Amino acid sequence: MSFRLQPPAPARPNRCQLFGPGSRPALFEKMAASAADVINLDLEDSVAPDDKVRARANVIEAVSNVDWGNKYLSVRINGLDTPFWYRDVVDLMEQAGERLDQIMIPKVGCAADIYAVDALVTAAEAASGRKKPITFEVIIESAAGIANVNEIAAASPRLQAMSLGAADFAASMGMQTTGIGGTQENYYMLRDGQQHWSDPWHWAQAAIVAACRTHGILPVDGPFGDFSDDEGYLAQSRRSATLGMVGKWAIHPKQIALAIEVFTPSEAQVTEAREILAAMEQAKSNGEGATVYKGRLVDIASIKQAEVIVQQSELIAGP
Ligand code: COA
Ligand code: MG
Repeated sequence: MSFRLQPPAPARPNRCQLFGPGSRPALFEKMAASAADVINLDLEDSVAPDDKVRARANVIEAVSNVDWGNKYLSVRINGLDTPFWYRDVVDLMEQAGERLDQIMIPKVGCAADIYAVDALVTAAEAASGRKKPITFEVIIESAAGIANVNEIAAASPRLQAMSLGAADFAASMGMQTTGIGGTQENYYMLRDGQQHWSDPWHWAQAAIVAACRTHGILPVDGPFGDFSDDEGYLAQSRRSATLGMVGKWAIHPKQIALAIEVFTPSEAQVTEAREILAAMEQAKSNGEGATVYKGRLVDIASIKQAEVIVQQSELIAGP
């Protein structure tokens, strides 16, 4: 056991991140009125190259002029392999105003990618006299990104969240699928002639969760493309929540309530967690480190597990 304590992740709800293209300003008010915790205005892959400049201007205007309430407001810039990203950063920093909370950096491949954006943001922040430091979120969506996930998670004190971007990830890995998240038809085991589907995203998600938890960052599940498939979205979200992720993207408003449902601990889960804590209090006062709750072992580690659920529920309930 390391003597270093695991740093806590930022204490803000991040159950659902709603995306919308910067080139569709008609959506901005609807996004602001939604139940999502985080808003991601997109300058990257949902915006056609000819619309990049217009989308940037739309987004800069909307940051200050739309009432975003208490939403965490993030803008996804273009990737570092494009001619657009530096102007995205400079214009956002110089023109978007204090309401902007976060910049999302897509397709990160190594810690130096974040260092480059950090250098630009830090200089622009100092020059503009901004009081609230901009935070970062990154998307792991390439072979290099997942291979270097630990150094990426440690790359900047600005970094607050990290998502798995299933579509670009699949392409970069050469995966034989056009699906964006969810069950993949050909990823199955056979037993007694029956197909049992497995989860090809699992290992990457687990690697992201481990890197995030080591460095006090929020691990988030990315997009689920088939927005007609509620059950598929719920199943993917439940797997992600079970692995330790705190939320999921919505690429259509239909998906928001589904994410909120899964990533808000249920009353039954919270009640059970509180009962475990009470049982362990009782055990401690009897001088015991372990006891029995509903016919199963609970011990000192169970306190930490129960606290994860109670703390998440208190964080969501707010002060
Ligand atoms: N945020 C808020 N509202 C949205 C929305 C979004 N991302 N996408 C659609 N809506 C609204 C529509 O305006 C419409 O509203 P109305 O009932 O008032 O007319 C309603 O939700 C239903 O929309 P629908 O007609 O089903 O969708 P669409 O054809 O307009 O758009 C997409 C579908 C997928 C193109 C659109 O949802 C979208 O652009 N999503 C985000 C894509 C993105 O940002 N990708 C990058 C990350 S992967
Ligand atoms: Mg992508």
